[in-house]
Amino acid sequence: NEQEMLDKFQQYVDGENKVEPKDWMPEAYRKTLIRQISQHAHSEVVGMLPEANWITRAPSLRRKITLLAKVQDEAGHGLYLYSAVETLGVKREKTIQDLLAGKAKYSSIFNYPTLTWADIGAIGWLVDGAAIANQVMLCRTSYGPYARAMVRICKEESFHQRQGYEIMMTLAFGTPEQKAMAQDALNRWWWPSLMMFGPSDDNSPNSAQSIKWKIKRKTNDELRQEFIDKTVPQAEYLGLTIPDPHLKWNEERGHYDFGPIDWDEFYNVISGNGPCNKQRLDARIKAHEEGRWVREAAAAYAKKAAQRQLE
Ligand code: ACO
Repeated sequence: NEQEMLDKFQQYVDGENKVEPKDWMPEAYRKTLIRQISQHAHSEVVGMLPEANWITRAPSLRRKITLLAKVQDEAGHGLYLYSAVETLGVKREKTIQDLLAGKAKYSSIFNYPTLTWADIGAIGWLVDGAAIANQVMLCRTSYGPYARAMVRICKEESFHQRQGYEIMMTLAFGTPEQKAMAQDALNRWWWPSLMMFGPSDDNSPNSAQSIKWKIKRKTNDELRQEFIDKTVPQAEYLGLTIPDPHLKWNEERGHYDFGPIDWDEFYNVISGNGPCNKQRLDARIKAHEEGRWVREAAAAYAKKAAQRQLE
């Protein structure tokens, strides 16, 4: 019966075994994964937009090549993740339609504008740094295809984080104007980066079950704290100030204390009203429309090639 199946599944997951596409899984487990992995895929793809804005304006050929490679990596991450969603029985077209129709979420962070070159540094350092903190734990997620995709994604994310930090070092150790640009970018990206980890644990409706099924291996607040603890010394090395007057090492906890997060801003952004939500979706819809002929041509070619093989 159903309860026995659920108990067996729980034991299987508790034993650190990976769940594979053809294994039996609770419907809610499948749904949660479809939700999370598709949101993750959309985040990778929408995440290309704020950075793509700077490819043509990168300050040197070396910076341009590096940024181009990073943005291409993100397209690749999107593709692995859409494939992982397909292993759960949902067509990629449906997942993408949900995004374009504004029905699917993607990470709040990509609804903020990239105003200066320093933002490319701050994104690599903070946004990719936060993504790594979250994704390293997902390398141990219980769903096999997702866990395996994460291993490669994490390696590439480390390169992204380093390219960002290197930009920040160049600016922070450069002229006073460059340092001011770096500080301004940190000021604007710090709080939205902390929001990437999602609502605090007592307001996170999906966490408890996801932790139980080992989809998530750490809670939103645990990961946020890890990220802060790791990032504060990096800001200190740069000689930049994190825009939080409450930030303070707590000897007893062995962690940094930090100030309150503006959750109204977070919920506003994830409900579609952030500074760039409309711009991001419009850009994705336009790209999808403009790519239609390529998809049609590829499908027609595949059909012809298959026919030729039959002949
Ligand atoms: N941006 C947008 N939506 C968010 C965010 C965020 N930063 N954080 C939480 N949410 C959404 C959740 O998706 C959920 O919405 P839903 O129930 O309508 O689907 C709701 O807020 C409540 O949050 P939680 O219950 O905490 O949701 P969940 O357990 O899924 O945890 C988290 C959220 C941590 C983001 C998780 O989904 C996750 O680890 N996802 C994979 C990583 C990822 O997507 N990274 C994307 C950014 S990194 C990058 O692309 C470079």
